[in-house]
Amino acid sequence: MYCVQAVTSDILWLGASDRRLGLFENVYPIPRGVAYNSYLVKDEKTILLDTVDHAAGDRFFENLTFALDGRNLDYVVVNHMEPDHCATLVDTLTHYPNAKVVGNAKVITMIGQFFEVDLTDRTITVKEGDTLCTGKHTFTFLMAPMVHWPETMCTYEQTEKVLFSADAFGTFGALSGNLFADEMDFEHDWLPDARRYYTNIVGKYGPQVQSMLKKVADLEIAYLCPLHGPVWRKDIAWFVEKYQRWSTYTPEDRAVMIACGSIYGQTENAADILAARLAEKGVQKIALYDVSQTDVSEIVSEAFRCSHLVFASSTYNAGIFTPMEHVLQDLKAHNLQNRTVALIENGSWAPASGKQMTAILSEMKNMTLLEPMVSLKSSVKGTQRQALLDLADQIAADVLA
Ligand code: FEO
Repeated sequence: MYCVQAVTSDILWLGASDRRLGLFENVYPIPRGVAYNSYLVKDEKTILLDTVDHAAGDRFFENLTFALDGRNLDYVVVNHMEPDHCATLVDTLTHYPNAKVVGNAKVITMIGQFFEVDLTDRTITVKEGDTLCTGKHTFTFLMAPMVHWPETMCTYEQTEKVLFSADAFGTFGALSGNLFADEMDFEHDWLPDARRYYTNIVGKYGPQVQSMLKKVADLEIAYLCPLHGPVWRKDIAWFVEKYQRWSTYTPEDRAVMIACGSIYGQTENAADILAARLAEKGVQKIALYDVSQTDVSEIVSEAFRCSHLVFASSTYNAGIFTPMEHVLQDLKAHNLQNRTVALIENGSWAPASGKQMTAILSEMKNMTLLEPMVSLKSSVKGTQRQALLDLADQIAADVLA
């Protein structure tokens, strides 16, 4: 049965939440689920902005049928061709044979890559700044390549001042009745997942996100309608400022994240000693994660949040402990930069993880390595305990400066 919600009197949300999917993109754990958003604007012509994942397909088609209330569907705008939004595109076009697809040239090409479908005379190819009028609403198309795929674009509706922002400003998390971010405690309940979504999905493409932000800075936005998570109609500038920080690799907090890779607990002991000394020196809200227990996507997200990072790793097969190596390679892949970093290594035969962690960090931009690294052989001894305290003092002085 349909479950449609109004964004405005003319704009309807037709999406649905998936609370069963374990891994978004078969990679990222989503214990809070995810919402796939689709929007219908009813005017002299009807225009659908994006479709949904297969998992939400049944509900979406019930919603679309109800929302159209017997009318034809005239246009389907495809802002993004990733299957979490486009899996039901061709079924939509089959249900509504008079509907035309509106997308840029890359979108139209990708439709042909994903589907075997004849769209002769059914496509409208748009470029930067092109407009489409449906009666009292006028839609302008703004290219947003790499936010998150090369074909991605945003669509701005001038009359009601709505930005349909594709993946930008989305978040993990199923919706729970409240459609608008101002109906939730977004900062407390949603921001960690919004950060994890951004950093892991789009974090690599900071310069491209900056280009998109420059375009939307000139727009008056009353409603921000992303493809995942809640719709924004208040405090939009607050969320845009988060995107400014994340896309420029600017830490949100002067804070310390310690990522620890420990096989039998001795490296973890070193991390705990360091963390306790940081607290003694006045550092607050220290975050310490075991890389074998905390998903790498959480650690990537926290590394984007914090100004200071500590990596404490056992040596494994003469290299970095495998989960820690995954963390560091993922941070490098996501283009993390501009952080102050300290290292702790451990090894019973010959500690080697520090040198190799340094090598990965040296390939990342503007990472300031605090010296000296603390090197352990099997467990923390007296002199090494002092070295950990000294390192903590150095970190604390920098964080609190
Ligand atoms: Fe939500 Fe890049 O797809």
